[in-house]
Amino acid sequence: MAEIDIRMTVNGSVQQLKAGAGRTLLSVLREEAGLTGTKDGCSSGDCGACVVILDGQPVNSCMVLAPQAEGSQITTVEGLAVDDELQPLQRAFAETWAFQCGFCTQGMLMSCHALLMSNLNPTREEILTAISGNLCRCTAYQGVVKAVEQAAAEMRSQDQNRHE
Ligand code: FES
Ligand code: FES
Repeated sequence: MAEIDIRMTVNGSVQQLKAGAGRTLLSVLREEAGLTGTKDGCSSGDCGACVVILDGQPVNSCMVLAPQAEGSQITTVEGLAVDDELQPLQRAFAETWAFQCGFCTQGMLMSCHALLMSNLNPTREEILTAISGNLCRCTAYQGVVKAVEQAAAEMRSQDQNRHE
């Protein structure tokens, strides 16, 4: 299949990638951009291990064709830390034991990050809805909810300090 050029901004840097029209965003991010933090769990939109943020929305990148992402802004799990410093959500995941084997963690982080981008005071139900597409075979869901609540509290207090 002929390759086409796909231009997208990934974690703040513009990338010009080549891919066949049938390639998924997941495979292009992993194999062309070298961002292997995003995982392929099922290739069929069922597990959420491949979630990235595309133009502000969490998507299963295994279900998006790479050309559909032309011109878009993408954040992958590698883009969460700022200057190599873990962000409140990432620290909270570690502190609340929001994972066991880690298979689902990158997708969970991205779904939760997307939630916190639009809602710094989510209810338990809103958190569960945000991660409803993320399967955790180790059933670490309670830890994930706790982590999001902890990170949201820290981010609200950071916001408050900024505005004082
Ligand atoms: S790998 Fe995309 S949803 Fe499972
Ligand atoms: S921590 Fe093992 S699948 Fe979620």
